[in-house]
Amino acid sequence: MITSALPYANGPIHIGHLAGAYLPADIFTRFLRMKGEDVIHICGTDEHGVAITLRALKEGVSPKELVDRYYERIKSDFAKFGIDFDHFSRTSRPIHHKNAQSFFLRLYEKDYLYKATMKQFYDPKSGRFLPDRYVIGTCPYCGYPEARGDQCEKCGRQIDPEDLKDPKSALTGEPVILKETVHWFFKLSALKEPLKEYVSPKDWKPFVKEFALSWIEELRDRAITRDLDWGIPVPLDDPDAKGKVMYVWFEAPIGYISATMEWAEQVKGDPKAWEPYWLDEDTVLVHFIGKDNIVFHTVIWPAMLIAHGDYILPTDVPANAFLNLQGRKLSTSRGYAIWADELVEAVGQDIARYAVALYIPEKDDSDFNVRDAFTRTNAELVDNFGNFAQRVLSFINRYMGGRVPEPGEFTQQDRDILNLLEETAKRYEDLLLKYEIRLALREAVNLGAEVNRYYEHQAPWKLRKEDPERARTVLYVAFQVLKGLSAMFYPFVPSSVETLWGYMNIRDTSFSSLVKPDPSLAGHPINESKPLYRKVEEETIKAWEEELKKRYEKAIGKATDEKKKEEMPRIKYEDFAKVKLRVAKILEAERIPNTDKLLKLTIDLGDEKRTLVAGIGHVYRPEELPGKYIVVVANLKKKKLRGVVSDGMLLAAHDEEGNPVLLTVEKEVPPGSEVS
Ligand code: 2FM
Ligand code: ZN
Repeated sequence: MITSALPYANGPIHIGHLAGAYLPADIFTRFLRMKGEDVIHICGTDEHGVAITLRALKEGVSPKELVDRYYERIKSDFAKFGIDFDHFSRTSRPIHHKNAQSFFLRLYEKDYLYKATMKQFYDPKSGRFLPDRYVIGTCPYCGYPEARGDQCEKCGRQIDPEDLKDPKSALTGEPVILKETVHWFFKLSALKEPLKEYVSPKDWKPFVKEFALSWIEELRDRAITRDLDWGIPVPLDDPDAKGKVMYVWFEAPIGYISATMEWAEQVKGDPKAWEPYWLDEDTVLVHFIGKDNIVFHTVIWPAMLIAHGDYILPTDVPANAFLNLQGRKLSTSRGYAIWADELVEAVGQDIARYAVALYIPEKDDSDFNVRDAFTRTNAELVDNFGNFAQRVLSFINRYMGGRVPEPGEFTQQDRDILNLLEETAKRYEDLLLKYEIRLALREAVNLGAEVNRYYEHQAPWKLRKEDPERARTVLYVAFQVLKGLSAMFYPFVPSSVETLWGYMNIRDTSFSSLVKPDPSLAGHPINESKPLYRKVEEETIKAWEEELKKRYEKAIGKATDEKKKEEMPRIKYEDFAKVKLRVAKILEAERIPNTDKLLKLTIDLGDEKRTLVAGIGHVYRPEELPGKYIVVVANLKKKKLRGVVSDGMLLAAHDEEGNPVLLTVEKEVPPGSEVS
C-alpha cells in the first residue's frame, strides 16, 4: 500500500513536488509491480485548511472554486508526467467526510479526545480567530521573517503560532492578540510509550527516525479542531462544536484510507477491496512525503492509528529533503519554479522524468541545475541507453534478418558482460528496496556504459564480414543485456521503455525474466525500431537558463515591491533609544546539539562576557566566527532556547532567501562600543 502526500489543491505541480514524493513513489511502485507484487499507489488532493482558504482569498475566488480548478490541474499535471496512480481522489468528497468523521468519533468514544479552553491568536480588525497560517511572524528557529503559524517554509520546522516572533495577521497585516476559545484536543501525551515502541525498531532513513524520536520526547496534546467555515464539521452534538471543523492535518491522512475505499468502489467495483490494504497485518504500508511532512506521518498519524485500533501502521516513511532550482529556493507563490506540464511540453515525458530523477533529494537538499540536468540526461539516457538500443535493434534488422541471432561459443568478454548484468540487477533491486533510487539508477547507467564499451570493442560492423559467427554472438549478447537494461530503466522512463519492448517484441515484462538472459530468444523476431529519444539541444538549455533568471528576478522584485508598499509606522527617537545596541567580539562559537541552526556564542562586550544563542548555524560554521565583530541588542530580556539562556540578540540582515547575513562594523572598535 503506497501513498504519496496529498498535495494541497492550491497551485500547480512543480519539479520540487515531483522530486520530493511523487516521482520516487511512482518509480518504486512500478518496480514492485514488475516484481509481481500486489501493490497500489493512492493519492488525491488535500482540499481543506488554511492553505486553501488563504489562497482562495488571494485569488478572490471561493475555496470551492479554487479546489475544483486545482484538482483538475494537478491531476492532469501528474498524468502528463507519467505518475500513474491507481486512484487520485480528493478530500472534499463525501466518502472522505464520512470516513474522517467516523474516525474522529472512534477516538472520541475511546477517550482520546477532550474539550478544553485555550488561548489563540485573534485579529481584532477582522474579528476572526487566526489558526495556523493565518498568523505570520519570524521563525523562532531560523529567523526567517515570513514563517507561517504552522510551519516555517525556510527551515521546514513545525511551529506553534505562539512561538513566532512579531506575530501578525495574514489577513490584515495587523498585530494580533491572544483570546480564549474552546477546542478538542488529541491526547497525544498518552501515546508516548506506544509511539516509542513503534518507532524505535524501525529501519528508517536516519534523519526521519531522529526527527520522529525527538518529537515523541516532547510530545504534548494538540488541538485538532479549528475555527473555520471550510472543512469537515466536527461531528459532535455540542453547542461548542458549532462553526468548528477538523484540523486539516488530522483529517488529511485519513484521506489515504478514504481514497482507497473510493478506489475499491469505483475502480474495483468491490466496496470491500480496500480492506486487505489497510487491515491486513502483513501489508507493507509506505508513505512517500517531503521532509516538511515528517512529524505528521511518523508521529501524529501513527498515534491516530494506534488510538483507532483497526488499521495497520506505516511500515516506512521514506521522506525526501527539498529540491532547489539553479541554487535558489523554489516558490509557488512567487512563481519561481519549473512546472510539471511545461517541462514535459519542452522535452517530453521521459527526458523530464529522467532529469528530475537525477536530483531526488534522498538525504540532503539537492539543486536542479538545468544545464547539468540536461547534459547528464543527454549522456546517460539518450546516448548510453537510447542510442545503444537503436544500434543493436537496427543492426539486427538490417543484417540479421530481423531475428535475434543464434550465438556461437561465448568468449570471456561475453560471459563477463552477461554476469555483470545479473550482478547489477541484484544490486539495483537491493538499492531500490531501500529507497536508494539514485544509486539504483547509477547501477543501470554503469551497466549501460559497460555494454557500450563492449559493443564498441567487439565492433560487430567489422566482424560481419570477417567473422559472421562472432558478429551473431555479439548481437545476441547485446540484445540480452539490452533486455536487462530495459527492466532497470523502465521505472524511470516507462513510456519509452514500453515502446522499446514493442520494438523488441517482448511480452513478458516481469523484472526477473527481463534481467535474466534467455537462451530461447535465439531466432526471436523483432520489429522495426526508431530512436527512442531526441537530445535536449543547447538552445533549449540556454532558453531555460534565461527564462529561470527572469522568473527569479521577477520573484524577488515582487517581494521587494510588496515590502515597499507596506506603510511603515514611524517611531520617536525616544523609542529607538530604548534599544541598547553594542558592538561585541565573538570569542567562541559552538553548535547546540540536535539543532541544525542554533549556535551558542560567547561574546566580549567590553566590561563583561555573555552567552547568546543565534539561529545562524545553517549559514555560518562555528569555526569561522571567533574574532568577528558583530552588533547585538544588549538590553533584551533573557530567553532560554534549547536549555541555553540567551542573553542578547545579534543583528543580521537577510538575503533574498531569508538567510541571515551578520551585521559587522566597518572598522574595529573596542568591544562594548555603543551603536547609535
Ligand atoms: O504538505 C502538504 O502539501 C500537505 N497537503 C500534505 C498532506 S499529506 C496527507 F497527510 F494528507
Ligand atoms: Zn525556520
